[in-house]
Amino acid sequence: MESASRVDLKAASGEYSILIGRDLLPHIAQHLKQEKIGASMYVIVTDVTIERLHPQRIDTLKQQLTGDSASPTRVLVYVIPNGEKSKTREMKGRIEDFMLREKCDKGTVLVALGGGVIGDMIGFVAATYYRGINFIQIPTTLLSMVDSSVGGKTAVNTPFGKNLIGAFKQPVAVYVDMAFLDTIDDRNMANGMAEVIKSGLTSMPDVFELCADNAATYRKDAKLLQELIYRAIAFKADVVMQDERDGGIRNILNFGHSVGHAVELLPNNTWLHGECVSVGCVHELMAARAMGRCSAELVQRAEKCFQAYKLPTRLQPPYFDVGHMMSNMAMDKKNKGGRKRIVMVTDVGKTADGLMEYVSDDLFIRLLSPSVEITSPLDTQAPTQTDAVNGVVVPPPRVIANGSVILPGSKSVANRALLLAALGRGPCELSNLPACEDIRVMLTALANRLSVPLTYRKGSGEVPDVMLEGMGVTSGGIEQAKALSKKFVIEDGVLHVWVENAGTVARFLTPALTLILLWSDPKVLTKVVLDGNNRMRVRPLKDLVECIKLAFTGVNVKYLGKEGCPPIEITHTSADVSASFPGADIPIDNKVSSQFVSAMLMVAPFAKESVEVQLKHLQEDASSGVQEAVSQPYIDMTIQMMKHWGVEVQQLGPGRYKVPTGGYVNPPTYAVEADASAASYPLALAAITGGRVTVNMKMPSVDKPPLQGDANFVHLLAEMGCKVESDQTSVTVTGPSNGHLLPVSSDMGKMTDTFMTAGVLMARAAQCVYATSGESSEPCCVITNVENQRVKECNRIEAMVDNLSRCGCKIRDRQDGLELFPSPPPVGCPAPTVINCHEDHRLAMCFGVYSCVQANVKIPEWRCVEKTFSDYWDVLERLGLTIRGSNAKVEDILQSSSVPSESPLVLVGMRNVGKTTLGRAAATRLGRPFVDLDEAFPFDIKAFVEKHGWDAFRQEELAVLSRHLDPASFPDGKAPVIACGGGIVESPKAIERLQKEQQVVWIHVSDEEVIRRCENEAVKPAYGQPVRDVYMRRKPLFKEVSTYEFCPPVKADDKAVEQAFCTFTRHVVSPPSPVLEGSTFLSLTSPDLTTAGINLADMAKDVDALELRVDLLADPSTLPHQIFHIRSQTSRPIVLTVRSRGEGGRFDGDDTAMAALLCEGVRCGVEFVDVEKRLPSSLIDTVVRSKPRRTRLILSQHFISPGVPPASDVQNLIRQFDRDYVDVIKVVFTASCTDDCLTLAHAVRSSGVRKPVIALAMGEAGRLSRVLNTHMTPVTHKALSTKAAPGQMTVQEIDAMRQSMGLPTRFYYVFGKPTSKSASPALYNALFPVKGVPCYYDRHETDDPKTVEAVISSPRFGGGSVTIPLKEKVAPLLHSVSEDAKIIGAVNTIYKDAKGRLVGTNTDYLALTRGLKHATSRSGNQAAKSVLVLGAGGAARAACYAVKKLGMDLFLWNRTKTKADSLASEFGGQTIVIDGPQNTPQGGFAALIGTVPGSSPLDVSSSLFTSSALPPVVIEMAYLPKETPLVKAGAAHGCECVYGIDILIWQGVEQARLYLGQDITAQEEKAATQAVYAYYEQVAASTYT
Ligand SMILES: NC(=O)c1ccc[n+]([C@@H]2O[C@H](COP(=O)([O-])OP(=O)(O)OC[C@H]3O[C@@H](n4cnc5c(N)ncnc54)[C@H](O)[C@@H]3O)[C@@H](O)[C@H]2O)c1
Ligand SMILES: [Zn+2]
Repeated sequence: MESASRVDLKAASGEYSILIGRDLLPHIAQHLKQEKIGASMYVIVTDVTIERLHPQRIDTLKQQLTGDSASPTRVLVYVIPNGEKSKTREMKGRIEDFMLREKCDKGTVLVALGGGVIGDMIGFVAATYYRGINFIQIPTTLLSMVDSSVGGKTAVNTPFGKNLIGAFKQPVAVYVDMAFLDTIDDRNMANGMAEVIKSGLTSMPDVFELCADNAATYRKDAKLLQELIYRAIAFKADVVMQDERDGGIRNILNFGHSVGHAVELLPNNTWLHGECVSVGCVHELMAARAMGRCSAELVQRAEKCFQAYKLPTRLQPPYFDVGHMMSNMAMDKKNKGGRKRIVMVTDVGKTADGLMEYVSDDLFIRLLSPSVEITSPLDTQAPTQTDAVNGVVVPPPRVIANGSVILPGSKSVANRALLLAALGRGPCELSNLPACEDIRVMLTALANRLSVPLTYRKGSGEVPDVMLEGMGVTSGGIEQAKALSKKFVIEDGVLHVWVENAGTVARFLTPALTLILLWSDPKVLTKVVLDGNNRMRVRPLKDLVECIKLAFTGVNVKYLGKEGCPPIEITHTSADVSASFPGADIPIDNKVSSQFVSAMLMVAPFAKESVEVQLKHLQEDASSGVQEAVSQPYIDMTIQMMKHWGVEVQQLGPGRYKVPTGGYVNPPTYAVEADASAASYPLALAAITGGRVTVNMKMPSVDKPPLQGDANFVHLLAEMGCKVESDQTSVTVTGPSNGHLLPVSSDMGKMTDTFMTAGVLMARAAQCVYATSGESSEPCCVITNVENQRVKECNRIEAMVDNLSRCGCKIRDRQDGLELFPSPPPVGCPAPTVINCHEDHRLAMCFGVYSCVQANVKIPEWRCVEKTFSDYWDVLERLGLTIRGSNAKVEDILQSSSVPSESPLVLVGMRNVGKTTLGRAAATRLGRPFVDLDEAFPFDIKAFVEKHGWDAFRQEELAVLSRHLDPASFPDGKAPVIACGGGIVESPKAIERLQKEQQVVWIHVSDEEVIRRCENEAVKPAYGQPVRDVYMRRKPLFKEVSTYEFCPPVKADDKAVEQAFCTFTRHVVSPPSPVLEGSTFLSLTSPDLTTAGINLADMAKDVDALELRVDLLADPSTLPHQIFHIRSQTSRPIVLTVRSRGEGGRFDGDDTAMAALLCEGVRCGVEFVDVEKRLPSSLIDTVVRSKPRRTRLILSQHFISPGVPPASDVQNLIRQFDRDYVDVIKVVFTASCTDDCLTLAHAVRSSGVRKPVIALAMGEAGRLSRVLNTHMTPVTHKALSTKAAPGQMTVQEIDAMRQSMGLPTRFYYVFGKPTSKSASPALYNALFPVKGVPCYYDRHETDDPKTVEAVISSPRFGGGSVTIPLKEKVAPLLHSVSEDAKIIGAVNTIYKDAKGRLVGTNTDYLALTRGLKHATSRSGNQAAKSVLVLGAGGAARAACYAVKKLGMDLFLWNRTKTKADSLASEFGGQTIVIDGPQNTPQGGFAALIGTVPGSSPLDVSSSLFTSSALPPVVIEMAYLPKETPLVKAGAAHGCECVYGIDILIWQGVEQARLYLGQDITAQEEKAATQAVYAYYEQVAASTYT
């Protein structure tokens, strides 16, 4: 306990001390005594995790509190489930009940042993129990140690939000025992560190630095960790003492929390508190940066520090919503007068004077939005007529950029300048250094290792200006250098230089450090070690080291780690021989980096003789044909800067340089010029908007080539019509008026980084050309020599073509650049265009420029600009632009490009894998045309290839493919199944084309088999290369173009392969599998299905789906074959699950491996993937993105420790699962008692979540939960040896229990669209209970027969009713259709016959028959045999059929008489007119049947009702409204009426007979009738009032 530190906190509400140390618990008794804290008894409250991990510590604590055996104090322990879900009022109540039961009195002391959850809740219990008792905090998580245990805030959560109910209550003592941290995982440690970093940022710069420097090691460094905890606590205590309740200075603790809390409150948030704070701090700093209150560098440093702890710092678009965030932030207590305020941090450890400052909503929206766009007051105005040739208008720029900006200096220039100045003589003041790792590391090495005197002065740039005094050595001045070397920081003869991951520093310093060794006294300095972090340790230095070994004598360089990489050790070869740098010829290989050359050049003047540097590996410049070094401009830059420092290098020839001896003379001041590629954006803004912008850059001129190649960009601007002015330190560009840029063509080989900016300017120029000269097939602007841009962050050439085309520009790529054609300018406010930035900073920035001339251009991933220009958007605002946040997401582009419902199914793969056979079979089953591309090829392939060669063939083949993929060419509008030739992927264009398709299946047989099959074949043209090589080349390409993989095992027989393929393709082209009530899936637990010897076909009959448990497989890599095996035996959907150990499964791999398996399953076409919610959202995102929409996602979580939380918590949990990308929610607990099952069922029913929820409790006590679960219940089968989860039951067991409980096991549906008003559910759900059958009837709204097919194939399906528009479409899905239904031409009923086969029939006619029988059975009317059917639609057919079946005479009327005529002739009746008495039959009508919609007016002559002895019975089939015109007219003439609703009931009763195979009694019918009438009153009322 000696090493414990102590903080004393004196607040108004209490005084107490906080002890911090390791293994404090054994000393608690003593401390309590000292502090005079006594208790009548103690209640320790802890959670299950701590109980499990620290049992001895709990025992120790108990002993300590119990005290001596003479008068022991009673100590109780109460253990609650762990986690935020326990922090509820209910749990607080349970604890209080426990204490009351145990007769805890006012003298009881509560001990909160746990994380923030326990601390907060127990503090609150202590605050209210007996109006307040004492409590002690023993925090066990880092977060609770540094934050929640100090300060006296206590609370519980409610469904309405976190921490809403609570009190201020200070503990009487806090023991921070760091031993508890041993068992905390890294994520929870980082969670606490976020708060420490936060406090460092606001108030403790040294703490921030400690955090920033030690992320990798802080867990292992107990002293450091204790220091950090101590500092955080001391700081918080200090703040709390000044301001116990929020209001003043205490707000400083809330930095990062304005945004952080808003994230935390999002309904689907999964981040821990500290993680939200991390995101919050970074965003609040970004706000400060935008407001000019802090530097861009501060934001970067803070973000880097959080990231070093793997804390999130960015909001990921699919998972949060700006609107929601803003409304959450609106509730922040720091707001004032409805305006949002944040803690304003201005520098590390510094806050603004008033602490808090206002931030506008607009700024927050911009910073929190997934995209940004530039807005303009012009957007709402009509375009002004500026140029109107051909009636085309070039609208003026939407905004005008004006002003001047100071941009960070170029890194390359700055690094060179620092080294030169450090070596040079005299003082030098360097300004405008950029903020980046390279520079920071270089400055640290110079100042802290080589003791170069450095001072900083606040400058205009990002980093303070640096004044330094150079070492001032010259080639002859060895003695003087030796004196200097005394100052180097040498430990045990070693000079250690740490370069982190700064590559430039490593390269520049390696020769310089060799010099330093040479200059030093070998007795003082024996070796120099240069080392960096792990990433640095794999970066090659070999060629440079080789060169040093050649150039220096007497020194040796050794690799201490990986050969050729740092760490390196530079030593004297022997102690007495003094090393030297003789000079003369130095050959150097610059293939790896031109910086090797620069580094050698910069030390060369210190050699004894002048040096001739000779480069190996020159290359030819593509445009000039001149021999050059790789990255020649950077070598030129070095030479030019050396000249500035007084050393003139002579170029003797290509790659040959002569460096004279001497030394550097420092210029008194040196302003590092702006990075030229960064400067290109503000200058381009001036160009495109016709504005005027100045940047701090030197003007390149013809005689003096620019230091940075990209500076040549200003010449391009001049060519495009801009005015360029310059002085010593700046360049100003003025754009042509109205942004009318001139077209140019340019070789951009020397300024490749700016080609995209040029591209968008040229897009504007091309629009101007169009306005003056119209369309042309010749490009007006061309960019060449930028081929290297294809391999940057993304393929930039392609990305430019894609994005500019979507903006409406005509653009084409060429291998080494772009061609732009005159294209119509955007007018007014076009539809939104979302730019696909591919996380490429330059793309995002250049479209920021382009959007000045086109409205509604949205730039998502806008934060990617931070890579090189972190405050880009702020700078744009400073130039007068308005940037606004927008909700557009990258997914929007991907979504909008997805093709409509039916798309071709394309098969790819090597020859002889069965594409044709399988394709043909699948096409037949799917009812689609089949195309074999080889057959569709118009020539004999072999002959064609021999004559024209492969290239021509590939071109022709692509043309054929494209034709068949074009929807316009689909035969009968049906998308074909297309089998491609094996070599289709040899052509990049074909790959590109195929990648646009949604359903490309790679038929993927094992490698050896493919090769074997191809080798024995001679019909097609030979490959001309070994088959193996061909296949290995194509293999990755097949994968790249395909969305699915079908993997038949080698030994599978043909029939099985065909069966599996047809099942697979049916899935691929079908709508998503529905998730039905009552559905089940069978968990397959075999380690290998292919050898398990179980009959899947049989087992699948009872269930809706099969679950493949990949984690239980002996070999997960057999996944594709397992899926194949299932497909070959059954067509039931597959649920793919990889269950981790932590959630009760057996998967041992890491999360990435898990996600990879899920994605692989998705590629194999599984219908459902189970994704564990605990996975990092980036991995969830990977799975979500990999899957087509028809694959459904189950988001799951399993809690292994026993107990189900209170229903309200379960509900909250379920709501958290309810995310956009989730189709099914699965939460599984472990039952501690049967009650848990009821809690769960209740929670699901009342959660308000509309998606299917699987909620289970595992274990024997949880069996009831499987019975009560409503959707997708996992089941086992008696033929399986193991269950997937404890307590799992078979379908039969579940059914038996359900039936005994009166729960449905059979489901019936009404299919159609719309079904919302259907009275059928009311009817059957009244009838079934009266009949005592376990059935339930529901709506299934769809107009797609495929969906119906999926539903009726469920084993739970009992039967159904079919309405519009499906009545004519379902017949093909059924086993048989009754004669009645065939003649009527419509199926309105599906039922299962005794053998379980699906039969379709029509019961409408039966209901009508009943009505007609009634009409003829009335006394006095037996003779009347004539029936008039009004209408000639589908219902009329049933009526005609009924009339004829009863042998009555059929009369028909319809508004369109021809239709009636055709019905009359089909059924044998006659057509009449009804507006006169003419052809009413003798004796009039016995009945009139109305089949026209109830809302149509009907003009009937009264003679219809009066011509018979008894008024006819009016039978109406339309049931909305109840009183149709026909019924009204009939009633007026005293007719008896059978309402539509009655017919509906009657046909329903007939259906029920078929469904159940039982008769329906009058009593039962009455119950159904009442229910339908009750329902009907409601609907009728809602429809017709
Ligand atoms: N009162 C305040 O001022 C304040 C400040 C910040 C946070 N909080 C609250 O604190 C809570 C979060 O605190 P937390 O992160 O400590 O949560 P927590 O208490 O839920 O602990 C996180 C997890 O770690 C486990 N755990 C605890 N100690 C462990 C140990 N030694 N080894 C292994 N596992 C251990 C817990 O069982 C739990 O599963 C939130 O409810 C938050 O609102 C309060
Ligand atoms: Zn906090």
